[in-house]
Parts: sequence; C-alpha cells; structure tokens
Amino acid sequence: MTGSTFREIRHEDPTDPARRQEILESPGFGRHFTDHMVTMVWTDQEGWHDGRIEPYGPFRLDPAAAVLHYGQEIFEGLKAYRHPDSSIWGFRPEANAHRFNRSARRMALPEFPAEDFLSAVELLVAKDRQWVPDGDEQSLYLRPFMFAEESFLGVRPARRIRFCVIASPVGAYFSQGVEPVSIWLSTNYTRAARGGTGAAKCGGNYAAGLAAQQEASAHGCDQVCFLDAADQRWVEELGGMNLFFVHDDGLLVTPELTGTILEGITRSSIIELAKEQGLEVVERRVDIDEWQRGMADGRIREVFACGTAAVITPVGRLVWDGGEATAPSGTSAGPQDSVWGRLRSALIDIQWGRTADTHGWMRRFC
Ligand code: PLP
Ligand code: COI
Repeated sequence: MTGSTFREIRHEDPTDPARRQEILESPGFGRHFTDHMVTMVWTDQEGWHDGRIEPYGPFRLDPAAAVLHYGQEIFEGLKAYRHPDSSIWGFRPEANAHRFNRSARRMALPEFPAEDFLSAVELLVAKDRQWVPDGDEQSLYLRPFMFAEESFLGVRPARRIRFCVIASPVGAYFSQGVEPVSIWLSTNYTRAARGGTGAAKCGGNYAAGLAAQQEASAHGCDQVCFLDAADQRWVEELGGMNLFFVHDDGLLVTPELTGTILEGITRSSIIELAKEQGLEVVERRVDIDEWQRGMADGRIREVFACGTAAVITPVGRLVWDGGEATAPSGTSAGPQDSVWGRLRSALIDIQWGRTADTHGWMRRFC
C-alpha cells in the first residue's frame, strides 16, 4: 500500500476560517477536531483495503460490534509541530508506527504496515495543515487507532477491523500549563500485571485506571501513580505518562521496562538527551519507599512526568493514604535551573525546529 491507497472524499462543509481561528487561539486538549480523518478497513478475506481521507464524522457502528463488548482496541498519540518557516513536522512517527504494531500483536489485531501509518498521518496533516497552531506550546495532536468492528458476540479476534486517524489542535495537557503537578499514589488499584497488557497502548488500560484517577481527583491530585501488581512496591508509571527521578548526586533514574509499563517515546528520547547533557541515566526498579523518603530528605531533588501529551511536567507533590511529600526546591526551580527544565528545553527546541535535529527524529509532513 502507498499514500495513493487513501481515496479522497470531498468535504462539502469545512469549518469556517474565522471559527477555526477562534479554536486555535485557545484549543485546550482533545476538545476540537480538524475537518478530516483517515480510515481503512481490514477483513480476514481482503486484508487492508478501502483507505479514505474523508470528512471527520461519526462512525455507524452495529450495537454488536466486538469493540463495544470486549474492548479489542489500540491507539497511538503523536504530535505535528509548525516550524518557524511554517513547514510541519512529526516527532519520531516511525516509533509510534512500530509501537502500534507491538500493541496490535498483543491485542490479536492485524498489524498495520508502518509505511501506511506514516502516509496516513502525513496525508491528514497535509490536508488539515491550517489546523496546525503556531502559538507557544501548541501543536496538532494525532490519534491513530484501530478497533474490532465485526458484529459478533463470540469471544475471538474480530474478522473486521477499522483503522482511523483523527487530529486535534492542542495546547498544554494540564490546564495550569507547565506548573508542578500533584500525584496520588494508588494502593487500591493496579494498572497492569505480568503477562497483561501494560506495555500495549490499548483502551482497556486507561479504562482500568479511571477509578484510580477519580480517587486522585477526590484527593485534589492531578494524576495517579501505579505500583507493580505483584509486590505493590515498585513504581511503574502514571495513568498516561512515564516518570523520572533526579537524585542529589545528579543521577537520573527511571523505572525499567518490565513488560508492565508503556515504553514511552518521550522517555527514550529523554534518556538520550540526558546522556548528551552529561547525566548518568539508570533504568532500574524504583521502590516507592525510596521516592517517599527521598522527597522528604532531599536525596531526590526533582521528579518529573513525561509523555507526548504532557511533554515534561514537574511533579510537586506525592500524596498517599495517610501522608504526603513535597518536592524539594529543584522541582519548582525555574526551567533553566533544573534538570527537568533543561531537558524540556532541549526536547521542545528540537520538536519546534528551533535547534538542529542531530538525531534524525523529525520527519517533514508538509
Ligand atoms: N505511559 C502511558 C500509560 C501513556 O499513556 C503514555 C502516553 O502516551 C506514556 C507513558 C508516554 O508515552 P509517549 O512518550 O510515547 O507519549
Ligand atoms: C499521549 O501522551 O499521547 C497519551 O496518549 C496520554 C494521554 C494521557 C493523552
């Protein structure tokens, strides 16, 4: 398959430019969507076919569609950035294409060829390029996903699947912008167990985390942190972000990939950037006790969360049933006086084209 695999269906009534401008001035996160979407269908008989770029709009879904009952679904998240010369670029989209297929294998979904994944996002960005905002911290968030469309209530991998990409102009993920966030430590719930789906980006992982997220909100926290399911001791990740810890000796520590956490593309980029900035980076298990005590006695100087949506966001407070710890000054220090701030600048300067892309991470979309 190639880019020409996607047939164009004309939009008869695209968004009025004045309304679009109004949205782009204050897009929020995931609230508004562009005029088009890319779709494709897979059947066990025909493989991938019927690729389209068409007006954004609802699907007609049979009430017996397997995804509605058994949750056979995966998704990705990546961003397109407008550079100073107005060209538009994606950040490591090949890595998303490959992770999409790892998730597909885990969820017994058909793989989607990486070159078609790239063509699909590129086509959508090019078509809706006027939706890519140019404000500070703004970008076009791309959401490729795939779900079981077959109407059948037996429990087996579906034989009809739909792939789709939608796009949403976005600003900062957290409404307060790049301010320290608070984390609720979940001890009533876990997110993933050995042999489960923790390393896949599937909707069920997020559904399973929502009750914990409600607990977090009830305790005045922005996000929830999950511990491992076996020992309830090792720090895994947040509901939608990976975690890093800056120790007082300058060591940068992040929970190792155990098969139960998502392998973040931001996480792996930060590991590379940190090494280039002369930091020693260690991927290992992190004891929750180490975090709780380290925040209190200053051995942990900074904690930050990272992900496509959140970029790099400092963590100011960890709250648990019966206590809390506040980050020492490092976390609230100005961006250039902190490890998280310097890593954030290095990352976003590459993404927004303000510095040379020496890693070959950026891909020109249009
Ligand atoms: N962990 C979870 C559970 C996520 O949902 C995300 C976001 O995609 C991440 C980590 C960070 O991954 P990435 O940096 O690839 O966006
Ligand atoms: C992303 O960062 O792309 C995610 O999927 C996480 C979600 C919290 C929006």
